Amino acid sequence: MGLDSKSPITSLYVHVPFCAQKCSYCAFYSEPSSGEVINRYVKALVRELELVAADLRPETVFFGGGTPSLLNLRQWEEVLRAMGRFNLLGAQEWTVECNPATVSLDKAKLLRDFGVNRISMGVQSLDEALLDRLGRIHSRETVFKSFDILRQAGFENVNLDLMFAIPGQMLDQWRSTLAEAVAMGSEHLSSYEVIYEEDTDLYRQLRAGEFDVDEELACAMYEELVQSATSAGFQQYEVANFARDQTSTDLPFAFPPRACRHNVNYWRGGSFYGLGPSATSYVRGVRTKNWSNTILFCDRLEKGERAIQSREELPPLQRAGETAAFGLRMVAGWPFEQFLQTTGHDLREEWSRDMKQLSEKGWGRIQKNGFQLTRQGLRFADAAAEMFLR
Ligand SMILES: C[S@@+](CC[C@H](N)C(=O)[O-])C[C@H]1O[C@@H](n2cnc3c(N)ncnc32)[C@H](O)[C@@H]1O
Ligand code: SF4
Repeated sequence: MGLDSKSPITSLYVHVPFCAQKCSYCAFYSEPSSGEVINRYVKALVRELELVAADLRPETVFFGGGTPSLLNLRQWEEVLRAMGRFNLLGAQEWTVECNPATVSLDKAKLLRDFGVNRISMGVQSLDEALLDRLGRIHSRETVFKSFDILRQAGFENVNLDLMFAIPGQMLDQWRSTLAEAVAMGSEHLSSYEVIYEEDTDLYRQLRAGEFDVDEELACAMYEELVQSATSAGFQQYEVANFARDQTSTDLPFAFPPRACRHNVNYWRGGSFYGLGPSATSYVRGVRTKNWSNTILFCDRLEKGERAIQSREELPPLQRAGETAAFGLRMVAGWPFEQFLQTTGHDLREEWSRDMKQLSEKGWGRIQKNGFQLTRQGLRFADAAAEMFLR
């Protein structure tokens, strides 16, 4: 779809800014809140959905956070019924993020009944001491129990999030978490190296010299991740994302069928609406960001307007550079023609020197129809992608 197209936007993200307790590494906008604030948020969100509904025909929906599973049954019903009224149900892929401690059969069934068909569960580790270290509110047992509940409720597409290079984590601990996680039989696995985000406890501990970062160990852990996941039948399709099943589908350019379509749309530079505090939207080339403040968000929506903090329209070349950088995180890389259609710029012209440099370094591969990072390049995807920014 071209940038000027007037067809409705097909991708919707909703941010739920609440958590029972803040984890030590997490910088996503979320906080513990009273039931009263959550009720107010739900009403404000319904208003925001109403404001954009006419321009939306969702094919993918993603409720992230924060902890969407923290909303209670009644609050979820309010959101889901409103989506029904605004014609926003029926997405091909609809994901809700869950913390294992807040999964219940009633809630899972309700979500399934309204058309949610994918759950992304934050596991992070299956080692009790490391779960504690991360400030997680659940035990390893809760992870297994919640996974069973999700299956019982009829979810056949479940992602598990893991983290590696956690301070104090040994290679053996990572190996056994990986082995246990792949044995659970989920359809999808996401696994990120710990990022030390400012304004988190873990960052403050690092700055205070309480531990060191071991880059070599982190590399070994990443290798272990790719090995374990692929030998268990997952196909890697992005730096940190793996999906079960090797057969290809209607998804463009060799994606496994369980790849997260919602995220593929981000990485391919597609448009999306982002609702809720702190959420970003990218609609027909214009990026807007909502205020990261739940009360302000509610105040604005109660007055009938969206709570937009900033609006940005990048010059086309700069936007194309960002799109290139994002897309290269995918194993499939960028087909030249698709990139040209999406951005109006040709990788073979504007970025030919960068692609050549990356190939010479062993980080990239120039093919007849496209460019992609090699396995080594994917390990350093952020550095490689930076070369494409203009
Ligand atoms: C919004 S959370 C997931 C859902 C739910 N809130 C939970 O934590 O159980 C999204 C994921 O981002 C990852 N994440 C968050 N902060 C991170 C960080 N600083 N470094 C690496 N991964 C991080 C975690 O794996 C987490 O599961
Ligand atoms: S990782 Fe998940 S549960 Fe933990 S603070 Fe972040 S959003 Fe909340």
